[in-house]
Amino acid sequence: MNGLRGKRDPVVAIVGATGAVGREFLALFEERALEHGELRLLASARSAGGEIAYRGRAHTVRALSREALEGVDLALFSAGGAVSKEYAPIASEMGAVVVDNSSAFRMDPGVALVVPEVNGALLDGIGEGGAIIANPNCSTIILMLALHPLRERFGIERAIVSTYQAASGAGAAAMEELRSQTRTVLDGGAPEPKVFPEVCAFNVFSHNSKVDEATGRNVEEQKMIDEVRKIWGDDSVRISATCIRVPTLRAHCESVHVMLGNAAGVDEVRRVLADAPGVELVDDRAGNRFPTSLRASGKDAVLVGRVRVAGDAATDGAGWARSFELFIAGDQIRKGAALNAIQIGERLLGRA
Ligand code: A2P
Repeated sequence: MNGLRGKRDPVVAIVGATGAVGREFLALFEERALEHGELRLLASARSAGGEIAYRGRAHTVRALSREALEGVDLALFSAGGAVSKEYAPIASEMGAVVVDNSSAFRMDPGVALVVPEVNGALLDGIGEGGAIIANPNCSTIILMLALHPLRERFGIERAIVSTYQAASGAGAAAMEELRSQTRTVLDGGAPEPKVFPEVCAFNVFSHNSKVDEATGRNVEEQKMIDEVRKIWGDDSVRISATCIRVPTLRAHCESVHVMLGNAAGVDEVRRVLADAPGVELVDDRAGNRFPTSLRASGKDAVLVGRVRVAGDAATDGAGWARSFELFIAGDQIRKGAALNAIQIGERLLGRA
């Protein structure tokens, strides 16, 4: 049993409290009425002394340091990989359970990579004292909520995913860049990209992560492949991804072609998705109403729709097939980051 379980007033630290995900942690704490003891809002030295309103009063932001982590029970990190690499091991050595939203430890064989609806049981084995638990990549989490129930019911032979990723995945500065570039273009100007390598407003471009010259995959695409395999504990999973940025603010969409292990009817596939934890089926063919980034923004649930037999699928007399298409939209800052980490924290505390 971990030292957090049953603890009534854990000392909680948010590392990266001034960022897009950090602020969402606070919004979710308020919404979920999560009980905790002292709350430490930590960020870079640039933000130290600033204030953030939480539960009706101003809380002062402190600079991240070893001292600031003393006595912390639960540390939620979302300040980028470099900060996590340096400070997550320090926090865990000092006795905190760290839930890390960066990619720094995700593929470490000794670190659990957790989507609570999929492999939350791993958390029950986390031992006494400090530990690091990794929150998967946002596109991976959103995808897993739709694929996992299908895999449980029908098996999955392969999946091909294309993403439409919002600016929020690159943080608060990227969201601001999209806003300001949009204003510049509407005023007739030509924006200069700073956070992204390409102009973000009114543009669609390949994900900004580094491309491997040998495979042609960018880091985001490789993360999705590697993380899905790790979460399911199966290196033979056949999955391919194309990751694209679109000029939306905060929810990622994904188009998925999935070949099931067994044939199914479209109604059965829909039913499995409708009953899946964390999923909301939005699939109104008559009204042409499906998941959108705006519909998913600010929501906990991942929206799934456009469930249909794939155009290239072989069907039997009853219309059953193995290949299906889906369209998914999930709030990248919520379920793709802050909410997933908080659900991990709640389970560790024995409150989920
Ligand atoms: P700060 O606002 O002081 O720069 P986002 O993902 O939205 O870009 O947010 C990143 C978060 O990580 C911010 O809260 C940012 O704080 C924090 N951060 C960045 N660098 C450091 C650092 N060296 N130490 C602590 N926090 C950091």
